[in-house]
Amino acid sequence: MFYGRDRERKSIHDPTGTQILYGGRGLGKSALLADAGDRFEEQRPGAHHKLYLNLDKIGIGRGTALGAEAIWPTLDQELIRQGVLEEPRRRGPSLDSWQRVTGGITCWLAEDSDRRLLILLDECDRFFEADVPECTETRRLRGLGDDSRGRVKVVFAGLHSVQRFTRLARNGPFSHLAQTPTVVGPLAPQFAADLIVHPTRALGFEFADVDLVNRVLGFCSYQPFLLQIFGSRMVQVMQDKRARGTLAPPPYTIEESDVDAVEQDASLRSDITAAFKDTLALDDRYHVIANVLAQHARDNGLQTRLSDRELREECAGWWPGGFEQLDSEGFRAYLQEMVGLGVLAPNNDGQGWHLRGPNALRMIGTAQEIEARLLRAEQESRLEETVVLESRPVLDRRSAPLTIDQIDYLLGEPVNQVRVVLGTQATGVADVEQTLREVTGRVAGWSVRATRSAKEFRDELGFAGCADKRRLIISDLSLRSEKSCRGSLELARSVLPKAAGATRSVVLVSGAAQLGFWSELLTGPDADHDTVVVLRRHDPRSLKDWTQRHSLFETEERLTRLSAVTGGWPYLLDRALWLRERRPDQDRVLADLTTWLGQRGGAEQFVDTVGLLENETLKSAYDGIVEQLGTGWHDEAYHVTAVEMNGLPAERARRAVVCLEALQVFDRDGTRLRVEPVLQAAMELLAAGR
Ligand SMILES: Nc1ncnc2c1ncn2[C@@H]1O[C@H](COP(=O)(O)OP(=O)(O)O)[C@@H](O)[C@H]1O
Ligand SMILES: [Mg+2]
Repeated sequence: MFYGRDRERKSIHDPTGTQILYGGRGLGKSALLADAGDRFEEQRPGAHHKLYLNLDKIGIGRGTALGAEAIWPTLDQELIRQGVLEEPRRRGPSLDSWQRVTGGITCWLAEDSDRRLLILLDECDRFFEADVPECTETRRLRGLGDDSRGRVKVVFAGLHSVQRFTRLARNGPFSHLAQTPTVVGPLAPQFAADLIVHPTRALGFEFADVDLVNRVLGFCSYQPFLLQIFGSRMVQVMQDKRARGTLAPPPYTIEESDVDAVEQDASLRSDITAAFKDTLALDDRYHVIANVLAQHARDNGLQTRLSDRELREECAGWWPGGFEQLDSEGFRAYLQEMVGLGVLAPNNDGQGWHLRGPNALRMIGTAQEIEARLLRAEQESRLEETVVLESRPVLDRRSAPLTIDQIDYLLGEPVNQVRVVLGTQATGVADVEQTLREVTGRVAGWSVRATRSAKEFRDELGFAGCADKRRLIISDLSLRSEKSCRGSLELARSVLPKAAGATRSVVLVSGAAQLGFWSELLTGPDADHDTVVVLRRHDPRSLKDWTQRHSLFETEERLTRLSAVTGGWPYLLDRALWLRERRPDQDRVLADLTTWLGQRGGAEQFVDTVGLLENETLKSAYDGIVEQLGTGWHDEAYHVTAVEMNGLPAERARRAVVCLEALQVFDRDGTRLRVEPVLQAAMELLAAGR
């Protein structure tokens, strides 16, 4: 059963109404799209068609090859399935996918003047990120509406970047719309009450009074998803009570003590807090703003207000990079978004801003937590733009070892280029080829060859190719000799396609068996940093992104533990996913992983994947550093000195430290390094057993 949102639904149906819906997780965007779609078809069965697409399922993202244009083939297929478009004729003219779709829809509309089409696109964030700055595909989608005088309408829904995008693209495709994006926030009180009261009533339970209902609504911040969880726990509590025979005959009354019992439920509390934090996690600026207001509320009471200017200055004090560039209009837009998301109270009387209520304050945390978070803000916050580029696409189940930015760099421009990926089993080197294949496979226009022999490789390099395809040649060298690595790199630089204008991107993949080759590329006289792409461990920020993409370990506490247990090593994260498939309890997964690493067999297996044992010099350099410096933070010069003291001349010691860093055995903070603790613990365990 769907409750409320009448205004929003009407606006979705209206050809001149909203085209953009945004809001945090669980607030009901998808449910609203589904409901609006169904009712649209009911208005005129047979003539009105809706098409709902979840773009996350298609896997569009930023980066050349994950382009936004991938939306068209999917639209094409779905519209064929619905009978709006016809199957492509085998001998027909070959059209671009978007032309086929737009043309096909025009024909379909022309056949019957009652026909209308509502295209509902859900989870559009990454699609928009991929489409800026040109916004070509968004324009084309919007054009469907203009060309058909409103008989086709496209609605986009997503989290914050959907909204951010519309602001970004003021002069873009949305500039002509006389409407602002619609926020899907907490439900209006009446409908929120219906959402909890009706289903419980249907099961035979009645709240003792309306105050009790209001208490539940406040506890769940009027958020549909949380109300649903609350309701199902409530029913559980009541059924247990009935089973114990402590209830009078029906209808059964829900008393205050029953609500108390549900509110005390630790896992519900953690769900509610997680949902709230999810909302704040949409943007690090939200985070800082909310914590600044919370700090004032803790110090001076919840009713304390801050003006736009005061609030902005204070935020800029904690995180200059995030707020100094923002003009006052932009800042106010952020505050409005946070009202829509149910975090801030509206500033209707013009007296300034404060948090929405005591629940919000409770969920943000204690005075100490708030202060600690603000102190870390400058170091840990990232602008949206960079967050996107540093995230990693998901392969079938695991995360790719490469970031979007790195993938972009490997694919490059249409010129002749060579890149070398350096990685180990621990950083996911075995997944590089698959990542590049999947990413390029999602869009037309790429041909990928993975060569298996030197001859095949040479042939591919010189191959003229076909003009309308970008070519990617991947050569996995990880099992070859260092000599053949050098040879392949040399060939890739010298053998160019024979036809004029033909280009190809070459990706050579090198593993831990070739650390001499790494050293030359990173530190030798011919070192060439533009060629090298090093696979990395996750840092705290990308780990957070990982947890969101896999919907795992999302609470702050679990995230901290995940980081401590895995050190951000992709190999260990993959293992966590593998364990998770076998047992649903997330805390158990972390415990099991810890146990596994604490035993000799597990530690050995992990250390093997890191590649440190492949090279005597590096292993002994590492031991020297641990012996001299332990796992504390020190300037990198100290690390070099520690290696010198262990017996290497200065220049070789410097090279060893660079190679060790490429193996990901250090954490870095500016010019300071420290030995990564998870690996170090495993190494120590093995040394102790010897
Ligand atoms: N207005 C509503 N009436 C009834 N249930 C709703 C309503 N809005 C959301 N829900 C329910 O709440 C849950 C979360 O909604 P969903 O649409 O998945 O959120 P979102 O897409 O914003 O993350 C779903 O189970 C959905 O059915
Ligand atoms: Mg959704």
